[in-house]
Amino acid sequence: MRKFGGSWSESKLDCIERYTESYLHVMQNQSWCTLDYVDAFAGRGKQALKSLDAACGVAAVESFFGDESERADTQEFLVGSAIRALRASTASSRGFDRFVFIDADKGSCQELEAVVASDFPSILGAVSVHCEDANAALEQYVSTVDWRSTRALVFLDPYGLEVGWDLIQRLAGSGACDVWYLFPLGGVIRMMMNDGQLPEAWRTRLDTVFGTPSWYEEFYRSSGQQSLFDDSGQEVLFKDASTPHVVDFVRDRLKTAFPAVSDAGILRNSKGAPLFALLLCVSNPSAKAQSVALGIANHLLKDLSK
Ligand SMILES: C[S@@+](CC[C@H](N)C(=O)[O-])C[C@H]1O[C@@H](n2cnc3c(N)ncnc32)[C@H](O)[C@@H]1O
Repeated sequence: MRKFGGSWSESKLDCIERYTESYLHVMQNQSWCTLDYVDAFAGRGKQALKSLDAACGVAAVESFFGDESERADTQEFLVGSAIRALRASTASSRGFDRFVFIDADKGSCQELEAVVASDFPSILGAVSVHCEDANAALEQYVSTVDWRSTRALVFLDPYGLEVGWDLIQRLAGSGACDVWYLFPLGGVIRMMMNDGQLPEAWRTRLDTVFGTPSWYEEFYRSSGQQSLFDDSGQEVLFKDASTPHVVDFVRDRLKTAFPAVSDAGILRNSKGAPLFALLLCVSNPSAKAQSVALGIANHLLKDLSK
């Protein structure tokens, strides 16, 4: 198999696209169910990186990818996740029956609708684009679908800490969703300040992302048997939030919701700093379905981390 190349965002999209192809292949004889593809942070379809850069300066690209240092090896146009899913589906003998695209940005939704209409007119009727917050839109989606006769491949591709734990639990509760989650590793690690004195709003945000306040005791420890105190009488804490430690914690948390969770693929910028962890969470209670899904995902993720 070809190794992933190019920027980290391209590698991420390649990984999801290859999983989508394999997923459709595995599901090709499953005519009893409706197959959905759900992209909760769908974007605008295509990204014109170089013209964006020229028109808006570095900040626009940074805000999309979180790190401008990868631009040098990124193609002029990067085909986004929504178009890749449509592409994989139309090339497969068993495509998705429905596509649910969600993005909070109105302009992105309009551009995505226009690309779908021009490039995929034959399946336009299967596509719905929702300009909404992903957490609210997915809550509505999960509660209205009949999961006895539906299977879904879900991609959560946020910029940062937008995915709340309630959403993770709802998707897990479907028993029928394979969920790719791009976990904001770099953002979370950056928020954990060395002295442990985080602004209350940050602690609340991290509680929401991890679905528990116990992350604080996990990553901040007192000095051992004997507590140390600074001049103001505050207990001195030591931070241990290395990348492997945070990744293990995230996987353990996801395993409390999903019966099966893949290894984590770590996406790094060109300087080697960790940006995101990419994981597949399988909600299907069938051990066979879990084994097939994790087998494919872990194989792809091994390439991603090379
Ligand atoms: C990393 S980009 C997604 C890129 C996309 N998957 C692609 O391949 O082109 C994140 C997207 O999330 C959208 N977004 C940000 N906050 C959101 C929210 N709370 N709910 C839904 N979409 C959101 C942004 O408008 C942006 O298009």
